[in-house]
Amino acid sequence: MEKTFKFMTAQEAASYVNNGDVVGFSGFTPAGSPKEVSTAIAQRAEAFHAEGKPYKIGMYTGASTGDSLDGALARANAILFRTPYQSNKDLRNALNAEKAPYFDMHLSVLAQELRYGFMPKPKFAIIEVCDVTPNGELVLTAGVGISPTICTIADHIILELNENHPKELRGFHDIYEPLDPPFRKEFPIYKPSDRIGSPVVKVDPSKILGIVRTNRPDEVGGFTPTDEVTDNIGKNVATFLANELKIGRVPSSFLPIQSGVGNIANAVMASLGANPDIPPFQMYTEVIQDSVIELINNGHITFASGCSLTVSNPVLEGIYKNIEFFRDKLVLRPQEISNNPEIARRLGLITINTALEADIYGNVNSTHVMGSKMMNGIGGAGDFTRNAYISIFTTPSTAKGGKISAIVPMVTHVDQSEHSVNVIITEHGVADLRGKSPIQRAEEIINNCVAPEYKQVLRDYMKMTDEGSHTPHDLAACFGMHEQFLKTGSMLGTDWTEFHKN
Ligand code: COA
Repeated sequence: MEKTFKFMTAQEAASYVNNGDVVGFSGFTPAGSPKEVSTAIAQRAEAFHAEGKPYKIGMYTGASTGDSLDGALARANAILFRTPYQSNKDLRNALNAEKAPYFDMHLSVLAQELRYGFMPKPKFAIIEVCDVTPNGELVLTAGVGISPTICTIADHIILELNENHPKELRGFHDIYEPLDPPFRKEFPIYKPSDRIGSPVVKVDPSKILGIVRTNRPDEVGGFTPTDEVTDNIGKNVATFLANELKIGRVPSSFLPIQSGVGNIANAVMASLGANPDIPPFQMYTEVIQDSVIELINNGHITFASGCSLTVSNPVLEGIYKNIEFFRDKLVLRPQEISNNPEIARRLGLITINTALEADIYGNVNSTHVMGSKMMNGIGGAGDFTRNAYISIFTTPSTAKGGKISAIVPMVTHVDQSEHSVNVIITEHGVADLRGKSPIQRAEEIINNCVAPEYKQVLRDYMKMTDEGSHTPHDLAACFGMHEQFLKTGSMLGTDWTEFHKN
């Protein structure tokens, strides 16, 4: 007999979720994240706290979410633990103030580690859908994330039926959950457009507690307009890749691109599209941002595989208005497939991600400001970088109006090691680290990427370090630029003699 589902208010749905429960949320970035039930859970937490009672939940998401999820729960002080990635200001403040225990994970491994039982099992899966059939076929919205796995392992499912997303999205998703070792097989994706799964998430209808209706749009923030710095970074990436193509190190048909999150990544994609020497290409990536859609519209990108449509609302409306045009040009996959190392290595991805800081030897920090404050998280950068055909990191050469150099003697936290990073690109130029020793890499990075005002500071550091070692460092001084910033508010004028111990 076919199931008829119960429609309920967000408050009624939230009333099932009790203190200490673990919840898995749909979506990836604000795309596809629940909005109503999460807000109601936050209100429930506030009501309990007002009565002096405890209320916190454990939270799994695909990646970052919208403000009505991460922001609302952080402000309500309702987070027992949180993984794998975030970018909300209030949550960032909470986790840096030790009010929300957070662990940062490679995004491709979360679903499998939940299935392996490495972390507490979610009791509830709260999933945004644009359609649900009586036999339990869920059509997801603009982000997939870990939805298939949390629907499989959670005891109960609560749906947010979001009418802001058309039912015609059915067919845009490729839902595939692998078997776990020792039974796992290869993922038969040989080009970005290959499909290996189902257009829907199939669930046991008896697990669906109820459906909450909404029409709230996704909470993706806009991208900051490009400026001279981001334009030059983008142009340097495009020129570098055009040259790789010209000299035959990249096949003439080009290779699929993976591009990271944020304003810089958005600007870099726009520059790739504008370079006449780069042929139309495909993407095998995690987030599909505004500039990718623009390049699909003008024919520079012929296909994009991703985990989410993290686009601003006007761009999403444009896709939905013209949905048949995009049907054979986009696919959305679970993050363990969109970010899968096996597939990244096989397809030969050119990966482009962003660093907060890089060191003179090529180690990259994308997550920790001054070594201790979490910015967002590693996201998918590690999944892709380690398995890339060519791995590129971009960063403006300075931050905070020139007071911070993005190139330092030693990064204060390592997300990607020198062994995985092939190329570093700033607005000043390109450091190609392939086939170079640490000292040669340092020369390449200082000569080509460092801001003019910091070149001498770093050259002085190199001069001061011990001669005769493979990777020269002065352990008492290697964080001198950071110390100088913390003391004076600027890395300029770093005096190595202050730190150097004779
Ligand atoms: N020290 C301190 N702060 C720094 C810094 C440094 N070395 N470098 C940059 N920042 C600050 C900037 O000043 C800016 O701060 P503001 O928001 O207060 O102005 C902030 O970091 C973000 O920088 P922005 O220039 O806007 O870059 P972005 O939006 O492109 O984001 C990352 C850059 C690194 C934060 C972002 O790409 C990220 O989270 N990456 C990790 C995850 C990842 O790579 N995912 C991709 C896999 S698909």
